[in-house]
Amino acid sequence: METKVKILDINNIDYEIIKEAAGILKKGGLVVFPTETVYGLGADALNEKAVNNIFKAKGRPQDNPLIVHVASKDMVPSLVKEIPPAAKKIMDRFFPGPITVIMEKSDLVPIVTSAGLSTVGIRMPENIIARELISKAGVPVAAPSANTSGLPSPTEVKRCVEDLKGKVDFIIGGGKCDYGLESTVIDCSVYPPVILRPGRVTLEELREIDENIYIDSGLITGNEIPKAPGMKYKHYAPKAKVKIIQGSMQKTVEKINEIVQNYRDDKSKVGIMATDETKALYKQGRVISLGSRNDEETIGSNLFETLRTLDDLKVDLILSESFEESGIGIAIMNRLKKSAGFDIIKAD
Ligand code: TXA
Ligand code: MG
Repeated sequence: METKVKILDINNIDYEIIKEAAGILKKGGLVVFPTETVYGLGADALNEKAVNNIFKAKGRPQDNPLIVHVASKDMVPSLVKEIPPAAKKIMDRFFPGPITVIMEKSDLVPIVTSAGLSTVGIRMPENIIARELISKAGVPVAAPSANTSGLPSPTEVKRCVEDLKGKVDFIIGGGKCDYGLESTVIDCSVYPPVILRPGRVTLEELREIDENIYIDSGLITGNEIPKAPGMKYKHYAPKAKVKIIQGSMQKTVEKINEIVQNYRDDKSKVGIMATDETKALYKQGRVISLGSRNDEETIGSNLFETLRTLDDLKVDLILSESFEESGIGIAIMNRLKKSAGFDIIKAD
């Protein structure tokens, strides 16, 4: 398949290109587009054949439901049976933004889109290219992250090109994604609502709306089967083996240096995910800082791209520092733990 790639300047958008891509969506084609979280691989959510092609292009398991993206809140009522009060409050507060709200689906939403579930996740992205595209297409857009299933999600368009060129009709580039972690997924088809995937909208922020909101515990421990089908798969995993080192800053640095020291092969085969505060303390290995520990937004936005960069450097092993599990740190650690297959080494 011929894939057209067009890069847009977010500050000076060429709307003709968006119109062309919207026409492709309307006709049942596949379009990759930027969002504020990660790049999405979109198709008309109401077109079964088009949605099936998403699963094929990504190599995605058929039992993993897709998020349906809308351009405005007006598009929501036709897609769901009812809007529960908590869902309404969450949408009023956080749409457009990095959150997906799950509700009972209407008959309009095909069963392939919801992967056989009676519910559907709805998200209204904040990114202007994404919203224009959906609005011009005039249909709700089903879009998973635009990566090959299992790999870290793409936050730069070059990763979408690597994974999906030849498998989709159109790729729109629009710069680096602001948040770099996928949306918070919250199930409002039950009460109290439960967070199935942590993200940029935090538990603390959601509890301001309803203090009974909680996080699915399967996500934190890795011991139970998570309620979001997608969270049970091997995920966000680069080709290299990832290990997380947990402990005080000093002990973590010592432990990582010790592991590299004892590593029998070429030391340049070890990647280290450091922070601005520690990067100078590692003398061997491929060291990349995710950002300052005081700025978790930056750390979140750099996480996936750093995993992919270390793969480009052909390291065999990635050692990562760990982060506090509160605020955005919950989402960062959730992705990191999954990329490591929950392989955590205690440093102290
Ligand atoms: O930020 C995002 O959400 C990005 C951008 C492109 O919008 N999309 C994204 O989609 O991350 P995807 O398909 O990579 O991840 C969707 C996650 C999966 O874990 C899936 O199982 C869960 O959301 N999910 C979707 N619909 C669901 C439903 N009805 N019930 C339970 N989990 C659902
Ligand atoms: Mg994904």
